[in-house]
Parts: sequence; C-alpha cells; structure tokens
Amino acid sequence: MLHKALPGFRDFYPPEFAVRSHITGVWREIAHRFGFEEYDGPPLEALELYVEKSGEEIVGQLYNFVDKGERAVALRPEMTPTLARRVAARAAGLRKPIRWFSVPQLFRYERTQRGRLREHFQWNVDILGEEAVAADAEVLAVALAALQALGLTGDDVVARYNDRRLLERLGLGAGGGADRLLATYLAIDKLTREPREVIRDRLVSVAGIGATVADAVLAIFQYRDLAELRLAFGKSESVLRELDRLEAYGAQLARLGFGAYTAFDPTIVRGLAYYTGTVFEIFDRRGELRAICGGGRYDNLLRNIGAVSLPAVGFGMGDVVLGELLAERGLLPAHRPRADYYLIAVTEAERPVLLQVAGALRARGAAVLYGLKHANVGKQFKDADARGAREVLVFGPEELAAGQVVHRVMGTGEERRTPLSEWLGGGA
Ligand code: HAM
Repeated sequence: MLHKALPGFRDFYPPEFAVRSHITGVWREIAHRFGFEEYDGPPLEALELYVEKSGEEIVGQLYNFVDKGERAVALRPEMTPTLARRVAARAAGLRKPIRWFSVPQLFRYERTQRGRLREHFQWNVDILGEEAVAADAEVLAVALAALQALGLTGDDVVARYNDRRLLERLGLGAGGGADRLLATYLAIDKLTREPREVIRDRLVSVAGIGATVADAVLAIFQYRDLAELRLAFGKSESVLRELDRLEAYGAQLARLGFGAYTAFDPTIVRGLAYYTGTVFEIFDRRGELRAICGGGRYDNLLRNIGAVSLPAVGFGMGDVVLGELLAERGLLPAHRPRADYYLIAVTEAERPVLLQVAGALRARGAAVLYGLKHANVGKQFKDADARGAREVLVFGPEELAAGQVVHRVMGTGEERRTPLSEWLGGGA
C-alpha cells in the first residue's frame, strides 16, 4: 500500500520547499528590518490554553487528545495564546514595548478547501506593552512591507481595517454582555461572505438579540467610510474619539508608505474572541482568495491568561493563500538547483585527487558536487548541467600527470588548463 499525506497536510518536495523558504526568508528579513526578535514555543500545549481564550471557531478546529500522562493537550492552532502565556510569565524582566516575531507551523482541523489546509506556517508579529496607535500602525506596516518585498503592490492587495471600539460606541452589543457581543462579532465577520438575511437570522437566533435591534446593528454597516460615519454620528463624543483614532492610524500608515495598500472597512471585525481594538485583514484586490493575513489589538488577553496587564497588538500571516497569490502573479522565483562546482573524473584513478579538491573547495565555502560512482565523461557533464553547476573541473590522467586540471565555465563554455595546486590550496 502506498502511504499518502493526510488530507490538508503537505509534502514539501524541493520545489515546494523552495517556495516556503522564499516566503519565510522574506518574513524574517522584514521582521529584522523593523527591529523584531524571533522566538518560538512548543507545538503541543495544554488544551485549556485555547478553550475560552480564542473563541469557538478555533476551539472547534482543535487537534486535541489525552496524552499518556492523562493530560488534555492540543496541537497549537495559533500562536497568540502561547505568546501571551510566555510574556506574562516573564513580563517584569522584558524591555517594553516587546517586539517579537515567530514562524510556527499551526494545526487546525478545518474543512480543507482552497487556501485552507489543516497545517500552515504563520508569520506572527506582535508588539506588547504599548497602547499608542503607533504600535497598531507599526505592525500593519511590517505585514505590508513583507508583501511589498515579495513583489505585491497596492493594486494586488489591500489591508481593510476597523476598530471594535468604534463598533461598540456605535451601539454594537448595547444592552448585552460580553458573550452576546462576541456572538454579534462572529455573525458580522461573515457579512461579506453570506447573504444579509442569513446574518440577520444568526443575530437573532445565535446572538439572541431582538429583530429590531438586529436591523439597527446591520444598519451600521451601510456607512462605507470614516467621513460618512462622522456625518452620521458626529454628535457623539465617544464615536468621534474612535473616528479620530482610526484617522490617525490611516495617516500614520500613509506616512510609512502604505497609503495605497490600506482602506477603512466597517465590516472587518475578525472571528477571534480576544480582540479589543483595531482589527484588520489583508485580501487580494480581486477578492478571489481567502484572507492572507489577519490581526488586531488584544489588550485583555495577557490579563486573562497570565494575570498581567499588558496591552498588545499583532497579526498572523499564513503561507498558503500568499503562496497561491504569488504563483498567480508570477512572483515566485524559478526553482533550479545550484552548485558552484561539479568535479569530473575521467577514470576512477583520479577520484582520490578529486575528493581532495572537493574537500578543499567546500572548506572555503563553495557548493561542490561530483558523481558518487564512475560514469563516462559525457554523462557526468549532463549531470553537472542538470544540477545547475556553474563551473566544472575535469580531472584527466594526462592533465594530472602535468599537475593540471581543466576548468570550464558552463554558461560560456570557456575552458582552460589550470594548476592543480590552485584548487588544493590558495584562492579559487
Ligand atoms: P487567523 O485570522 O486565525 O489569526 O489566522 C491568520 C492567517 O493565517 C489567516 O489570514 C490565513 O492567512 C492563515 N490561516 C489561518 N488558518 C489557516 C488554514 N487553516 N490554512 C491556511 N492558512 C490559514 C490568528 O491566528 C491570530 N492568532 C493572529 C494574531 C496574532 N493576532 C494577533 N497576533
């Protein structure tokens, strides 16, 4: 029987691995450019870390089991609770604001579909210990800088942002407790994906709010931009404060160079339970794919998990949708194996010298290949070409007798005899 990977899990053959390392390489480089430090945590955590903290959507998708020590455990479906647990445990000793990033593999038992698998790699960037809106702008800017570095422009992708505090000031959740508010967010989160009537029914049946209030809640989403909201709700001081904050957020992002990549959108609320402020999601402009990235402010999570009061803001960007988008736009580098040198022995008798040269070149940092069993010279040249060798050294009996090696540059075909000593010692 031929074993296959489980549904929703990927085998990374070298071409797919090259895509993954291209994406994660840019993520890491951009994170460093913005002064974030890398961390990691365990892939398996106590189940209770996720229950109630992340919200029903993620909890319903957990890979969880009881381990041999009778512990209820789960594979991490997201990084944020792990981050909150760790930061809370050492909060006093860490320089604030904390600027950390990570690239964990995450596991969610989702219905597999385009852009949604059961494992993915997710770039997490978070700032903890800063409530200023500059922190919110900074994390979104990092996300957009990475997309820009991968070759995507403001015509390809857009970050739609909003603020849960604004929605609350506009009356979302009025008269209900935290549970009802969360249920309302979960319903609104689907507003652009499902018919309005379905959302209305859900507000009534799941969130438990009356039909008239449900209509009033839905009416909030007829306003498309901040100016319209200012006109409609300008009399409320608390709404104005939120609108000002969102305007400052947009203005800072524009100054950081990402005005063309960002737009206010009142329907963005996010599905996770712990967000308390700004929220955003990044989509392809054509609207063909699922979200590339999502994040926001979560000022109470550290208190809930670790009894430490520390405001926080961050995001997660997955490799799946992003990889699809880059492939669609022709922005993935061609995968081609590469080597600096391929060494060819004309007869088996030259192999000992060939091995010595291979050792010397590798010690100097060059990528060196050679056939592991003897083959004719033509076959070896073919192999050198297929493996992307830039230069070839041919070790023949007559040349070696004269203390020489034939050096060929594959691209130009230029060939000359060179002293063997040059390859064994000194500079190459
Ligand atoms: P999330 O929206 O659940 O947020 O995931 C963030 C991103 O991860 C999504 O936009 C998507 O690109 C990718 N993603 C999520 N699930 C899957 C899946 N099943 N298959 C492929 N890609 C997926 C969070 O996880 C938050 N913890 C992010 C965060 C960090 N918020 C603050 N800090």
